[in-house]
Formats: sequence, C-alpha cells, structure tokens
Amino acid sequence: MRPSIASRGRARPSALGALLILLFTSCGGDQPQSALEPAGPFARDADQLWDITFGVAVVIFFVVEAALVWVLFRYRHRPGRKAAQFHGNTRLEIILTVIPAMILATIAVPTVDTIFDLARAPEGAMEIEVIGHRFWWEYRYPEEGITTANEMHIPVDTPIKLRLVGAEADTIDQQEEIIHSFWVPQLGGAQDIIPGREATLLIQADDPGVYRGQCKEYCGLAHGDMRLRVHAETQEGFDSWVADTTDAPSQPTGLAAEGRQIFESGGGGITQPCAGCHAVETDAQGVAPNLANFAARETFAGAIFPNEPEFLRAWIADPQAEKAGAKMPDVGASPQQIDALVAYLRSLD
Ligand code: CUA
Repeated sequence: MRPSIASRGRARPSALGALLILLFTSCGGDQPQSALEPAGPFARDADQLWDITFGVAVVIFFVVEAALVWVLFRYRHRPGRKAAQFHGNTRLEIILTVIPAMILATIAVPTVDTIFDLARAPEGAMEIEVIGHRFWWEYRYPEEGITTANEMHIPVDTPIKLRLVGAEADTIDQQEEIIHSFWVPQLGGAQDIIPGREATLLIQADDPGVYRGQCKEYCGLAHGDMRLRVHAETQEGFDSWVADTTDAPSQPTGLAAEGRQIFESGGGGITQPCAGCHAVETDAQGVAPNLANFAARETFAGAIFPNEPEFLRAWIADPQAEKAGAKMPDVGASPQQIDALVAYLRSLD
C-alpha cells in the first residue's frame, strides 16, 4: 500500500529528527574519537595530509560548480537558437587532462612522503602485538611478558610499533578467520588485520589520557561493540601498571575466595569453568580475554561496559543478551555463584 500524502508529510520531520540524533550521538562521549583532533605525531602527519587534500578539493569543487552554473545559464535554450553540432575538441580535451594530472601529481608529493614516513618505525620504538578476535582485542607485550585485553597501556612521547597479527589460524574455530581493523583515530592511522599476515602500525600520544578506538572493518554481529581504549600514561604511570599487572594478585578472601573456586573448577549447575577459556596469569594466552589485573580495568567485553558489579553480574548471567554475537556462553551460574565470581574478578589486582 502506498503511504498517504499526510503520513509522508509526517515522515519527513521524524527522518530529520533521526538524522540529528545520529549526528549528535556520534559526537557524544567524554573523549573525542576523531582523526581531526590528532593527539600524537603520527596522527598529526595524517591530519596535515587531510588538510592539504581537503583544501585542494574545496577549491576544485567551487571552480567546477561555478563553471557548470555559468555554462547552464550562458547556453540555455532560447527561441530561434540552434545548438552547434561538432565532434570532439582536441585542445580542450588536452587541457582537461593535463590540469587534473598536474593537480594529482602535486598532491602525490606530500602523500607519498607521508606514507613512507609512517611506514618507518623510529629507533627505540616500543613493540606491542595486537591480535583481533571476535569481538575483542588481545595485546601482548613481549618485553614485559604481559598479555591483556581491550585496554592498552602505553607511555606518552614514546613511538609504539604495533605488530598486528590475525588470530593464529583458528585458536578456537574457523570463525576467527576474519578481517578486523585496528583504529585509534587520535593516535594514528587505521590498519587492517588479515589472518595469516602481519602488518605494522605506529601510534604515539603526546599527553596522558584515555583514547578511544574501534574496529573499523565489518567483522560480524558485534563489530560495533568491538571497541578499545588506549591509556597513555607518564613513564612512571606506565611502569606502575606493568608492576601491578605482573605482580601476583592479592590472595582472595571470603566471597572472592569462593569465586576463585568457582572460576577454576565450576560446580553446581555450571556447564564449564571460566578458567577453561580465561587465564588470570599475566602472560598466559587463552581463547578468551586474559583477566590479569582485571580490577584495574575501566571496561570489559570489548570495552563496552563499565567494570562495575551490576554490569558484570548481567554479563555473566546472559552474555548473549548483553552483546549479541559474543562467544562467551551462559555457563548456568546461579545468582549466588555470580556474586562470588564478581567478587573474585574485582579482587584481581
Ligand atoms: Cu572486528 Cu569489526
């Protein structure tokens, strides 16, 4: 059935409203997630290139549009006037080929220069390995012997060379054989992570802060929930994070000790213990996020939920309801068991 004219008239303001909401929500959040507000030298290089290219594009747009409007007006139909009939104009065609070629050649100079600059890792760059999983990020610090998830910690003013690798063929199943793309707009460019290949990406932060990022390549149901955070800290701040993460966690007591037991061995109606997939030892690699020093994290599950008891409880009770597409199953823990597990997770310092 065709919509009535009246209902079509109403549809327009609500479509406009939806567009505005979309526009404003994209600007929401505490830290800007924008490549136009670079916060480090590598992101700044890319931003400068954008400024040049955008400036040139704007000038071309106005010149072309003005010429078009002028031609439409100057050669509009008038009674008694007949259009000239001819085929081709070699001189004009040469001019219209040479001018764009010169513009492209001019833009190519800074572009190629920046591409080569951004491909060279500076001396003394710190290395972190990044693995894209469905739908979370794993980070391995080879020097520090740390494996962690979703929230990356880096020292400021230090070039970071990220080695991006696809999840090793089927850590768990073929579903991992998919392309993700790592992107923290304020700190550097974006880089696809392709299974079976290795790529590098340079990031660096000028100032301490939390920089938000996002998987930039559609990878499945929870692609939009595959977010990440980079905590840039002073060298002392970073060193103390390393120390906290590599230290043995404090011995859990009371409810947390009970939680540890459940985490490791299950019990009750639990179908599989958490420890089957999650490691809590600093450098252990599992098929699910390593949880060492979990209490210090601000977020969990692809950096989408705040690390607070109520969110953890809802997550453990029904992960699929909280994040459709997540691999974590509902293990059938009772509310009492969930409380104990949450206490244990919050004790991991
Ligand atoms: Cu991973 Cu999109």
